[in-house]
Amino acid sequence: MPDIELHPWADDDLDLLHRANTHELMDQLGGPENDAQVLARHERYLRMQREGTAHQFRIVIPGHPEGVGMVGYWQHDWHGEHALESGWSVEAEYRGQGIAPAAVIVMLDAARTAGEVLPVHAYPRVDNPASNAVCRKAGFRLLGEEAFEVKPGLVLQTNDWVVDLASPPRS
Ligand SMILES: CC(C)(COP(=O)(O)OP(=O)(O)OC[C@H]1O[C@@H](n2cnc3c(N)ncnc32)[C@H](O)[C@@H]1OP(=O)(O)O)[C@@H](O)C(=O)NCCC(=O)NCCS
Repeated sequence: MPDIELHPWADDDLDLLHRANTHELMDQLGGPENDAQVLARHERYLRMQREGTAHQFRIVIPGHPEGVGMVGYWQHDWHGEHALESGWSVEAEYRGQGIAPAAVIVMLDAARTAGEVLPVHAYPRVDNPASNAVCRKAGFRLLGEEAFEVKPGLVLQTNDWVVDLASPPRS
């Protein structure tokens, strides 16, 4: 497994968010944002972390303290039931090394350690093989396809994957 560390979202992670504000990454969330929206997202991550409603992390690999991607989980309503949702991205030049699945596994362990017991869902688009592969490698199980409203008025065709935090982690 790649040597990665997760650092809780911090004041100096605004640059990481700007680097992630590309079409390729943000089309999963409805498209790139302007500077004010990126700043608002950064402040939202910090606030929700303080409130305990969302936990975003910078993914750090040796020699890259500035971070090479991000991973996080937050509260989620799954068909009327309390659940968690997770998401991730890795900057283009660091892909294909197993960084995202390693980061997701570390994040799930951190969530367990923090006492989280709710099922964690992920919703990669059906046409995103890389992210569906991350789900599989991190131990999620596929529930099926689901139309997912990523923001008001924008519905994407996604796969609903879930991992149960209450059961023992993958070996
Ligand atoms: C999805 C993503 C996080 C995967 O990160 P990663 O660290 O490259 O993950 P992996 O190294 O395990 O690669 C995952 C899959 O990507 C594909 N891949 C392999 N090398 C790659 C490369 N150089 N570039 C792009 N994709 C590659 C492979 O299909 C691989 O699956 P495999 O190992 O079964 O062959 C990354 O591609 C990304 O940030 N994509 C854009 C944002 C996104 O889609 N986020 C998820 C929203 S739900």
